[in-house]
Amino acid sequence: TWTTGSVIEEQVEAIREQVGTKRAICGLSGGVDSAVAAALVQKAIGSQLTCVYVDHGLMRKGETEQVEKDFVAATGVQLKVVDAKKRFLDALAGVSDPEEKRKIIGREFIRVFEQAEAEIVAEGSASGEPVEFLVQGTLYPDIVESGGGTGTANIKSHHNVGGLPEDLEFKLVEPLRQLFKDEVRMVGAELGLPDEIVQRQPFPGPGLGIRIVGEVTQERLDLLRDADAIAREELTAAGLDREIWQCPVVLLADVRSVGVQGDGRTYGHPIVLRPVSSEDAMTADWTRMPYEVLARISTRITNEVRDVNRVVLDVTSKPPGTIEWE
Ligand code: XMP
Repeated sequence: TWTTGSVIEEQVEAIREQVGTKRAICGLSGGVDSAVAAALVQKAIGSQLTCVYVDHGLMRKGETEQVEKDFVAATGVQLKVVDAKKRFLDALAGVSDPEEKRKIIGREFIRVFEQAEAEIVAEGSASGEPVEFLVQGTLYPDIVESGGGTGTANIKSHHNVGGLPEDLEFKLVEPLRQLFKDEVRMVGAELGLPDEIVQRQPFPGPGLGIRIVGEVTQERLDLLRDADAIAREELTAAGLDREIWQCPVVLLADVRSVGVQGDGRTYGHPIVLRPVSSEDAMTADWTRMPYEVLARISTRITNEVRDVNRVVLDVTSKPPGTIEWE
């Protein structure tokens, strides 16, 4: 019979057998899958694993700290954090087109990640235990969707660090290959990961970069992060985290709306709340949530976030609307 305990034992055994005395690396995204995969591999091979976290500056409030502090505290994992905030902002300067933003974020992410990988590989070679394995949080549905198959990840390195070959080739460790999402959450909880990571709702890889309609700037990111934190806090306090699949909070940075504050007119930006209910994100409906909770979020955001004088609710299903605005 299936128990989280037996899955963990089985996987720990399998990982030890696969990796032996070699070393492995794992990229952490802040999401559930990579965190649970890393925690499992850490349990199996300890300090033979090094994790990499690229801080692109597009995460929500507290998420980077969750990885850097809470995840490390819970697992004891060896973590390399790359602060690439400025690099991403520079690359995104002047860009408003959503697909262009996605491309830039994806490209920069791979470059920064590969640079970190190459450094870890170089350290491994120096220590005499080569890094041969890359850990990935692939789930059973991912495998079904992509038509099966496993093997190696061939990662093209754009940066030639210390005379390493241009292409780093890794064998994959995929300890979640047989699991569904809810099982992954159970395994994560059993491994002692914090609730904030294990129960996390989906969040897009390009992060807040695609929740600012318009150019991404530091100021806009800070503003959106504050508004998003308020919305999340109130949704959690109202006990709506399970009913709501995810609730993108979007800054319409290129739109200005007139408001009034005291004796004066304001000219600020609208914030959009996009709470959706869904099974798999392929289709979704807007969540009929209590007016009082919406009122609280609206009052707090307009009071507490500078330059926001309006909060609007997105009442579009998917299709025709997507969950994200970009
Ligand atoms: P849409 O907006 O297409 O989103 O209805 C469906 C689900 O996918 C997430 N999403 C992304 N995830 N990179 C990601 O990793 C992306 O570029 C991206 N765009 C959308 C979205 O948050 C939702 O859960």
